[in-house]
Amino acid sequence: MSISRLKALVEDNFADRSLIVVSSREPYVHKRTATGLKVERPAGGLTSAMDDVLRAVGGTWVAWGSGNADKETVTNDCVAVPPENPSYNLKRVWLTSREVNNYYNGYSNHMLWPLCHLSLDRVFFMKKFWRDYVVVNQKFADAVISEVAADSIVWLHDYHLCLAPAMIKAAVPDLPLMHFWHIPWPNWFAFRVCPQAKELIVGLLGNDLLGFQIPLFTRNFMDCVRECLDDAEVDYDNSTVTYKGHITRLESFSISIDFDKFNNHASSRRTVNTIKKIHGRLELGNYLGIGVDRLEYTKGLIKRLQAINLFFEKYRSFRGKFTFVQIAVPTRMSQPYITYKKAVEALVNKINIRFAKDGWRPVVYLDKKAEVKDLSVYYRLADVAIVSSLYDVMNLVAKEFIASQVDEKGILILSEFAGAAEELEGAMLVNPYDVEDFADKIKDALLLSAREKKARMSALRTHVRDFDIYHWIFDIIRAILRVSSSMDESLSYVFDHKEDFSMILGENAAGPPVVFLDFDGTLTPIMATPDAAVLSAEMRELILSLKKKTRVAVISGRGLTDIRERIGIADLIYAGNHGAEIWDGAGVVVTQNETEKRDLIEDILSRLTDGVSGIPGVIIEDKGVTVSIHYRQVKTRQLADFFDVFFNCVQGHDDSLRITSGKKVFEIRPRDIWNKGDAVKWICDTMMPGRDVVYVGDDTTDEDAYKVLKGWGLSVSIGMSRESDYYLKDQSEVKRFLEFILDIV
Ligand code: UDP
Ligand code: G6P
Repeated sequence: MSISRLKALVEDNFADRSLIVVSSREPYVHKRTATGLKVERPAGGLTSAMDDVLRAVGGTWVAWGSGNADKETVTNDCVAVPPENPSYNLKRVWLTSREVNNYYNGYSNHMLWPLCHLSLDRVFFMKKFWRDYVVVNQKFADAVISEVAADSIVWLHDYHLCLAPAMIKAAVPDLPLMHFWHIPWPNWFAFRVCPQAKELIVGLLGNDLLGFQIPLFTRNFMDCVRECLDDAEVDYDNSTVTYKGHITRLESFSISIDFDKFNNHASSRRTVNTIKKIHGRLELGNYLGIGVDRLEYTKGLIKRLQAINLFFEKYRSFRGKFTFVQIAVPTRMSQPYITYKKAVEALVNKINIRFAKDGWRPVVYLDKKAEVKDLSVYYRLADVAIVSSLYDVMNLVAKEFIASQVDEKGILILSEFAGAAEELEGAMLVNPYDVEDFADKIKDALLLSAREKKARMSALRTHVRDFDIYHWIFDIIRAILRVSSSMDESLSYVFDHKEDFSMILGENAAGPPVVFLDFDGTLTPIMATPDAAVLSAEMRELILSLKKKTRVAVISGRGLTDIRERIGIADLIYAGNHGAEIWDGAGVVVTQNETEKRDLIEDILSRLTDGVSGIPGVIIEDKGVTVSIHYRQVKTRQLADFFDVFFNCVQGHDDSLRITSGKKVFEIRPRDIWNKGDAVKWICDTMMPGRDVVYVGDDTTDEDAYKVLKGWGLSVSIGMSRESDYYLKDQSEVKRFLEFILDIV
């Protein structure tokens, strides 16, 4: 991907938009030192990647002003960066030292970081962490709100800012919000460790678009929403979550690096000259290995050093010939990082004492951050780069090494637990916990033939060149633009558009509008079991009042007899079994029995009943024509078993059965029987031609009706649906809506 293609996309679609990037860590830190004012660029994937983005696109970056000279370098909290070629604006948010301790060291680094990296024994939580996490998120939200213009798009980053999206959305509902989660999102079994699981998810659902690195994390997030929020609708097929009337789209985008930047640095004359000097200065052996990391326990530095120790123990011929340079940048210098740093340094010393000879040191340990121009020297020079993360979302160092390997002579040893392993075919994969195999792999990598090394590196370079940081930004910007343009023409909230209803449902010679009402989730809240859903006296009164003025139809997935009994008003129109059975107010006028499919359904039901016998909480509701399988009561730890059994039983019958999922329920229906859309059309055409229609529903099976009504009826969904024209925020608004309809019919 070329930067010019990205620029064209930005110019065509983004020229009239302003981008606001928001992250906790800032890209440039001003520090006052004994020798004067210095500007530092922190190590870390987020700032490396986003600095490239904002240099290309321009805009404002809102971040915590963490440097001791940050305050003296701003005007109105802002400073133009990068210092050498200002191309965007950095707006700093000020935190007190208490906030830094509780929000950053505490909640972000002691709770969320280990939680998301499945290092659960390192999770440590105190109430004050959370209190300041809320306070600081509000500070960030306020800083963003004060920056936004009518055309802004906001792009938030990472785990420090989970609550800010909902805070910003509440203040500026029409502002497109995107959030990229740079680290892994764990599955529910780990995430439920977090005491504020629900609050974090609600905060993130303020976003219109939420990006993860790989599809697995998107799926884990959806599972967590399903477990935490009963009233959110998770659409796995379309990767959306609808919560309180707002849709959040979820997508995965694998982050990358600026290939050309590393390739060019590595090819420069400066690099060639420096390589010569380094060889002289460091007393390197014939082979060079490189590791570049923040001094971070997830990076597996201890395992790496144990493997190097064993490598020298087992393969004596490499003593004096192989040197491993480890750049380890101190990070988050509080516990447990201080102890980790000491452990790493002790191990380096141990290896050096054990094996050093004649001026040669096996491990050269550099504990200062290296700049890109110096990193690319090491990357080019190295015969092997080692990335040994115990769990890592992607790992940019792996890609930077590849981009700098202009001679195609090096091998990448890459942990199979780094996200990069998914895409970097050609790397030598290693399980860092299997230390002996790891040691053997270092030997294997060094002894590969030059031909094989070249073949592997050449393939890797093509991949990283094609999927570089501009490719990543391009995909994300396209997704943001899609979301923001669909927001412009999005669904309308009923109570902001009352005049549409008054106008459309006004005088009609054919008669007053017909009102179709779904039952579960619309006339009653969703209950723990189907039996528990009872129509309230108030709702019943409202239906009776409406019935005096117009025709009312109740349309449900329940069997016809069941729904008639539950409403208990004899002369309404009823449709049961999702529209396959219809009662016209006096008698049954439509029934559809698919005897041939019935045999198949019975066979599935008997296998399903056996299969779920050890899974308490599954309710199988056989309604004759269709079947519902409710799993709301199934314990989380047994959900995976339940899904396995269910999908095993229904697979292979796509031609004859339609399987849909709703709110913690699966529906099994013969393909060729009527759905709610067919029923609505038939009822209107045969019983009340020419009348206007209002339809209120809440679940996926109601979408068949919304589709049929397009262009001639008013469809209202509870929570957003792609197919309806209007929406209500939740079930509690139905009563108010029916009172409003009662007034205008
Ligand atoms: N980095 C750097 N200098 C150093 C060490 C690291 O600039 O001395 C940069 C490195 O080039 C990479 C980033 O820090 O861009 C680390 O990103 P990665 O995804 O590998 O890990 P993270 O630190 O985000 O967990
Ligand atoms: C990872 C995180 C970033 C973080 C960086 C450095 O890349 O995803 O959000 O900025 O590590 O950590 P630090 O705590 O120094 O910001």
